[in-house]
Amino acid sequence: MAVNPSSYISLTHKITTLQNNLFSFPSPFSSKFRSITRKASISSLPVAQNDAVPSQVEVPSSNSFTKHHESTFSGLEEVMTGYMFGKKKATEVAHAVWKNVVRKGDLVIDATCGNGYDTLAMLRLIADDDNKSRGRVLSMDLQKDALDRASSLLDRSVSADERKLVELYAMCHSKMEELVPNGNAVRLVAFNLGYLPGGDKKIKTKSETTILALEAAKKILSRGGLISILSYVGHAGGREEFEKVESFAAGLPIDNWLCCKLQTVNRPLAPILVLLSRK
Ligand SMILES: C[S@@+](CC[C@H](N)C(=O)[O-])C[C@H]1O[C@@H](n2cnc3c(N)ncnc32)[C@H](O)[C@@H]1O
Repeated sequence: MAVNPSSYISLTHKITTLQNNLFSFPSPFSSKFRSITRKASISSLPVAQNDAVPSQVEVPSSNSFTKHHESTFSGLEEVMTGYMFGKKKATEVAHAVWKNVVRKGDLVIDATCGNGYDTLAMLRLIADDDNKSRGRVLSMDLQKDALDRASSLLDRSVSADERKLVELYAMCHSKMEELVPNGNAVRLVAFNLGYLPGGDKKIKTKSETTILALEAAKKILSRGGLISILSYVGHAGGREEFEKVESFAAGLPIDNWLCCKLQTVNRPLAPILVLLSRK
């Protein structure tokens, strides 16, 4: 496969820029969550504000965050190279980027639970080794069928203690703010747009609610957090939805956000990964 060296440099530069802008802070939230429910809203989740965190932080090169950052950077290089040579999927790139942002004990949101693979990947990032983590994955989907599949995947894949760190909600992601009433506490909000693989293809994400959900995600994301959107353009409405997502990203102010996309230019129907990093 021929690779244009200038594309590689540009891509590497973009990823490096993204890496340099992904700050990490101790988990801002500490709370007791309700046990696993499938309700459309929760009004009393106590989540601390993260407003005290400055928007620009200089991290001394010797501190532990920097060390962790450097060690995980090589993981991202590997998956990016795999992606460029057709050995890794965009989903795997997304998961590798999340790894560099999310810490044990974080609060994260899977806005499109589906079969639960992304939820499972997030759970592995937030769960403490002793399974006493304060972290949570709030995972939502319009379809109960999807949540049942995700629930069964989790039951098969993780311990009972880890399983308790995931809350599944049958709800539209545009209402995600209701789950985080106290503001900017969420480290990662991930979207995997489109329809449920193996499910009813007519039930899929729609531009209007996706944009409402992105607006909501923007409000609840902590500084140093990430909104990750995997957008599929091969189905009816998918291209239009991607364009709306791209316009949303392009409109975010550079002072507070760094927005990138990862796209295979000669495979026009390949999924596109859009990453919105809050500084
Ligand atoms: C591509 S699938 C997600 C795949 C999933 N993340 C996984 O790891 O298997 C997209 C999911 O989004 C769900 N969905 C569609 N519109 C939604 C909405 N407004 N709010 C929440 N979920 C929605 C669909 O039901 C579908 O299950």
